[in-house]
Amino acid sequence: MSGDLKWNKIFGAGLATVLVILGVNQVSGFIYSSEPPEEMGYFIDAPEEAAAGAAEVELPPDWGTVLPVADIAAGERAFARCMACHTINQGGADGIGPNLWGAVGGPMLHSAGFDYSPALREHAAQNPTWTYDELDQFITAPSRHVRGTKMSFAGIRNTEERVALIAYLRSQGSSGYAIPAPDPSRQPGAEEETPAEGEAVEGEGVEQTPEEGVAAQPDEEATSPAQPAATSSPQN
Ligand code: HEC
Repeated sequence: MSGDLKWNKIFGAGLATVLVILGVNQVSGFIYSSEPPEEMGYFIDAPEEAAAGAAEVELPPDWGTVLPVADIAAGERAFARCMACHTINQGGADGIGPNLWGAVGGPMLHSAGFDYSPALREHAAQNPTWTYDELDQFITAPSRHVRGTKMSFAGIRNTEERVALIAYLRSQGSSGYAIPAPDPSRQPGAEEETPAEGEAVEGEGVEQTPEEGVAAQPDEEATSPAQPAATSSPQN
């Protein structure tokens, strides 16, 4: 009889201990619960994309072909993703990132008062100009193109969106930066049926193309009416 009572006490004590431990866990979990950081500070890069088709290395866009018909309005919409850190109006203030008025075709590190990262400074020493290709590669994956850049932005992988965005950036203070002539060897030929504007097609007979430096067409693309022919406007 007294033996039963003893075991009751032992079980009771054990149960009480368990309850206390559970309670403490509960409470401390409450007190020390960890908040997730407001901003995740790492990039999720996706190099597999490129690795997957090593054979299929993507050429940079043929700017002379794509820019004149780019959807500037879509580019402006795409710029919404940059606005957290950049202004683009003339004389606009630097924010987390530098003001971007006139950035296209302009010198890298073009905002005098901005505190650029050592990585971008170093990069600029080799590549002083924001050419279309440089911009394109930077925007595709900033931290891959300029390792250590402090532009914490994952990048835009969609080429059509980047082209539209670059056309928009160009329209903001850089319309004097020439668009190169279309590369005749990269015209889609008969496969696609939308020659941008009659003229581009004449050099169909493909032979060795002249040097790429051929003067850009002497017209002001600056205010050319965006005439997105039949191309469906890209998604947002
Ligand atoms: C999270 C903030 C942030 C976002 C979003 C962002 N940027 Fe940046 N950007 C920066 C910072 C910071 C720098 C300076 C980088 C450095 O010094 O390494 C920069 C630099 C640049 C530069 C170089 C300017 C110069 O003077 O050389 C360009 C061009 C640029 N950004 C374009 C863009 C575009 C286009 C987008 C949108 C697709 C974008 N950025 C989105 C923060 C941002």
